[in-house]
Amino acid sequence: MKVAVIVAGYVGLVTGACFAKLGNEVVIIDIDEKKLKAINNGISPIYEEGLDELLRQICLEVSSDYGKVSASETVMLCLGTPSDENGTIVLDYMIEASKRIAEMLRARSGYSVVTVKSTVPPGTTEEVVIPILETSGKKAGQDFGVCMCPEFLREGKAIYDFMHPARVVIGEYDSQSGDVLDRLYQDFKVPIMRTDLKTAEMIKLASNAYLATKISFINEIGNLCKRLGIDVYEVARGMALDDRIGSQFLNAGVGFGGSCLPKDLIMLIAKAKETGYKPAILEGIANFNDAQALRMVELLKKHLTLRGATIGLLGLAFKPGTDDVRDSRAIKIVEALLDEGARVRAYDPLAADNFRRLFPQIEYASKEAVLNSDAILIVTEWAEFKDIDYRRKIVIDGRRIDKAREAKIYEGIGW
Ligand code: UDX
Repeated sequence: MKVAVIVAGYVGLVTGACFAKLGNEVVIIDIDEKKLKAINNGISPIYEEGLDELLRQICLEVSSDYGKVSASETVMLCLGTPSDENGTIVLDYMIEASKRIAEMLRARSGYSVVTVKSTVPPGTTEEVVIPILETSGKKAGQDFGVCMCPEFLREGKAIYDFMHPARVVIGEYDSQSGDVLDRLYQDFKVPIMRTDLKTAEMIKLASNAYLATKISFINEIGNLCKRLGIDVYEVARGMALDDRIGSQFLNAGVGFGGSCLPKDLIMLIAKAKETGYKPAILEGIANFNDAQALRMVELLKKHLTLRGATIGLLGLAFKPGTDDVRDSRAIKIVEALLDEGARVRAYDPLAADNFRRLFPQIEYASKEAVLNSDAILIVTEWAEFKDIDYRRKIVIDGRRIDKAREAKIYEGIGW
């Protein structure tokens, strides 16, 4: 199938590359010429396991010319939906891209399906995207199709997740629209759920909110277990033997970060409030997750005066295997340490450069130098932190690194 993808961001690039690998004719549109050049040279502009290799294997067209979209049977909108400082979702990129697609639709006689892949508040495709597309003078469901097909890709595992999805959710304006996407996904041997547009939008947000809830739930149990002298990892192991609960997302620790879980939770809370509903559980999770990061600093204060002390951070990325620091728990922790008058020395195998843009004032050092700090906080569970000699150190562990238990003073955040 002929597929156009807008833009070459995280979801777009992975989606485009994977659809090309599966034998589709894909063009990715982006205005960033530097990015396009890198992709053409088989170099991914984002860090993602296996993506460079994939780009070198496939035939993928990239262009800054929206005109290239007109030959496609489906055009996938994979634009970022960032939030402003109040947590309100900024749909400017979606709106701009929808206007460009409307121009294309105006000039085009054939039928194509506009598919929203970005994570958006329920109602956005119907209330924002379709009205813009219809400024073309063409009618949704008649002259062109519309779908909302969310992605559930994990950073660092995005190619694997794309190729092995648990399910495909197709929100459709009408069955003709959905049939096109159904065809595109027919080789994936997984359940394909067809539903309406805003249900698909909600499935994405509810899924991420549920994962955030599961993590926060086990973190709360962990905080309690610590007071009771119980190992929360043993508790989780016992819980996971019940199929209804399962073992995933029960790793207690410093909490969740990243570009999706925190933002999607906030998006859902904002949408709930817009309807006049107070989402007590969701708000509780967002607040709890922030407090959980600060618990590391509170535990540290039991052992050390922070003013003037040098605190070493092991890990800045929001999880291992990525250089992404968006909403990393390290951000909250560093803010709190600086507020308390501590000096911060940090190490991360991949994410130090990205973190430096947020906190140029802290010291970025080698792992050895960080280990020579007055105390150490483990914030990301990089594999290389699993065989460090922690003896003679003060360690507050936010990620359950078993070797760290040998430290002179050791505190697990919830164990
Ligand atoms: C997530 C969803 O998993 C994915 O389906 C969605 O499309 C995008 O958001 P991602 O942000 O890449 O993916 O990371 P994920 O692996 O889900 O981890 C998110 C955060 O939760 C990380 O900070 C991680 O450290 C934390 N986490 C995860 C825990 O603290 N405990 C766990 O048991 C699992």
